[in-house]
Amino acid sequence: MARALVCVCALICAAAAASVPPIGTQPEQVHISYPGVKNSMVVTWSTSNRTESVVEYSLWGDALFRKKAKGNYTVFTDGGTEKRTSYIHRVTLTDLRHGSAYVYHCGSDDGWSDVFYLTSLNESLSFGPRFALYGDMGNENPQSLSRLQKETQIGMYDAVLHIGDFAYDMHEDNGRIGDEFMKQIESIAAYVPYMTCPGNHESAYNFSQYRYRFSMPGHTENLWYSWNIGPAHIISFSTEVYFYLEYGLDLLFRQYEWLKKDLEEANRPEQRAERPWIITMAHRPMYCSDDDRDDCTRFQSYVRRGRNDTTPIAPGLEDLFYKYGVDLELWAHEHTYERLWPVYDYKVYNGSFEEPYVNPKAPVHIITGSAGCREKHDAFIPKPRSWSAFRSTDYGYTRMHLINSTHLYLEQVSDDQYGKVIDDIMLVKETHGPDAWL
Ligand SMILES: *[C@@H]1O[C@H](CO)[C@@H](O)[C@H](O)[C@H]1NC(C)=O
Ligand SMILES: *[C@@H]1O[C@H](CO)[C@@H](O)[C@H](O)[C@H]1NC(C)=O
Ligand SMILES: *[C@@H]1O[C@H](CO)[C@@H](O)[C@H](O)[C@H]1NC(C)=O
Ligand SMILES: *[C@@H]1O[C@H](CO)[C@@H](O)[C@H](O)[C@H]1NC(C)=O
Ligand SMILES: *[C@@H]1O[C@H](CO)[C@@H](O)[C@H](O)[C@H]1NC(C)=O
Ligand SMILES: *[C@@H]1O[C@H](CO)[C@@H](O)[C@H](O)[C@H]1NC(C)=O
Ligand SMILES: *[C@@H]1O[C@H](CO)[C@@H](O)[C@H](O)[C@H]1NC(C)=O
Ligand SMILES: [Fe+2]
Repeated sequence: MARALVCVCALICAAAAASVPPIGTQPEQVHISYPGVKNSMVVTWSTSNRTESVVEYSLWGDALFRKKAKGNYTVFTDGGTEKRTSYIHRVTLTDLRHGSAYVYHCGSDDGWSDVFYLTSLNESLSFGPRFALYGDMGNENPQSLSRLQKETQIGMYDAVLHIGDFAYDMHEDNGRIGDEFMKQIESIAAYVPYMTCPGNHESAYNFSQYRYRFSMPGHTENLWYSWNIGPAHIISFSTEVYFYLEYGLDLLFRQYEWLKKDLEEANRPEQRAERPWIITMAHRPMYCSDDDRDDCTRFQSYVRRGRNDTTPIAPGLEDLFYKYGVDLELWAHEHTYERLWPVYDYKVYNGSFEEPYVNPKAPVHIITGSAGCREKHDAFIPKPRSWSAFRSTDYGYTRMHLINSTHLYLEQVSDDQYGKVIDDIMLVKETHGPDAWL
C-alpha cells in the first residue's frame, strides 16, 4: 500500500515537474553586435518576463565584473495567434579599450546569464579582420554550425556576417523557432559581433522577428546600415524591399537613396583612402547559376536591374554599385557556393586572363548560402554562363581575411569534406573606387 502510494506520487510529481515553466526572468539568447561607434559593443538578449537590463563586465584577467552598464528593453509581441511577448534587452558597452578581451555576463538581479568573453574591435585602420560568412542557416540541419562554434570560440574570427535567412522560420510556432535559433547561435554570437541582413524567410509580419531581435548600427531597425572595420566599409541592405512591396514601396526608395548617400560619403577621397574596401552584403544575388528560377537566374533580375512594374520605376543596384566602385558583393539565398569572375552587366572584366582577380575591372560577387537548413541544397544548371568561375553544392561557409588595403583573401570551407578548403582567391587591388575600372 505504502509502496503503491509512493509510486503514484512519483508519477504525479514527475508530471508536475515536467510542466514547470522556465524561469521567465532568466536571460537567454545572448548575442553581441558592433554598433558602428568606436570602442563600443551592444549586448542583446531576451527574457520572457520584465527585468532590468544590465551587463557586468571586466577586462580579461581583472577581478570579475568591476564594471556595470545599464540599458533598456523593448517589448516584442510576435504576430502569431498566441501573441507571445518577450523582452528584448539591449545594453551598449562604451569606452572599451580597443582590441581588448573582456569577460561579461548579462541579465539583472533576477537572473544572470553564463559568463562569456568578447574582444572589442581593434580600431586601427591597418587592422586585418577575419570573418566567417554564410547565409541560410536554420534550426534543422544546420550542418556547418559545430565547426563555426568551435572556430569562433578558438578565436579564428573577429566578426560573423550572416547574410539573411535564419532559423526557417523565426516566426514559426509563435516565435519559438526564433527563440531556439537565437539559443543555437549563442555559442557563436555571444563571442563575436554577429552582423546580419534580412532574407525572405524573415518576411512574416513585416520582418518583425528580424527587426526586433537584432541590434545593428543606424536607425533602420537593422534593415540597412553600414559600418567600418579595419580597411573596410561594409554595407548591409535588404534585397527584400524589391519583393515584398506590400510592406511599402517607399522602403525600396528610402533604401536606394540611403545607399547612394552612403556610397557617396564612402567615396570621398579622404574616406576612401582610409577605408579603401567597400563590401556589400545582402540576401538575394544578382547572378547565380542555380536551377530554381529565382530572381538571379533571370537576366532582368529585380535586384540587378530594378522593377518597371512599380510607380515610379524602381532602380536596380548593379549600376549604382559599379558607379561607386564597390569591390566585393556578398550574397546568399541559393543553398550553394558560387564565385564569379569580375562581372558587370553580364560581361566578364578580368584583371588579366592569367590573374583575373588582380586589379579586376568590375566588382567580384560571392554567393554563400550553404550553411545548412531544412531545405537542403539547391542544384546548379549544367552549363553555367561565362561569368561563373567556381561552384560547389557542399554544405559550408566562407572565410574572409581583409589583409590590408590591397589584399583580400577568401576561402570556401566544405563541411561535407570535414573542413577542407575547396576554393580560394586573393583579390588584389592597387586602386579602389570607380577609377579601378578604367
Ligand atoms: C512570465 O513569463 C511566463 C513565461 O515564461 C509567462 O507565462 C508569464 O505570463 C509572464 N509573467 C508576466 C508577469 O509577464
Ligand atoms: C530607456 O528607454 C526609455 C524610454 O524609451 C528612455 O527614456 C530611457 O532614456 C532609456 N534608458 C537608457 C539607459 O537608454
Ligand atoms: C590593432 O591592429 C594593429 C594592426 O594589425 C596592431 O598593430 C595592433 O597591435 C592592434 N592593437 C591591439 C590592441 O590589438
Ligand atoms: C514595415 O516596417 C517598416 C520598418 O519599420 C515600416 O517602415 C513600414 O511602414 C512597415 N510596413 C507596413 C505595411 O506596416
Ligand atoms: C520591364 O521589365 C521586364 C523584366 O522585368 C522586361 O521583360 C520588360 O521588357 C520591361 N518593360 C519595359 C517597358 O521596359
Ligand atoms: C577570365 O579569367 C578566367 C581565368 O583565367 C578565364 O577562364 C576566363 O575565360 C576569363 N574571361 C574572360 C572574358 O577573359
Ligand atoms: C598586403 O599584404 C600582402 C600579402 O601579405 C603583401 O604582399 C602586400 O605587400 C601588402 N600590401 C600593403 C600595401 O601593405
Ligand atoms: Fe532566401
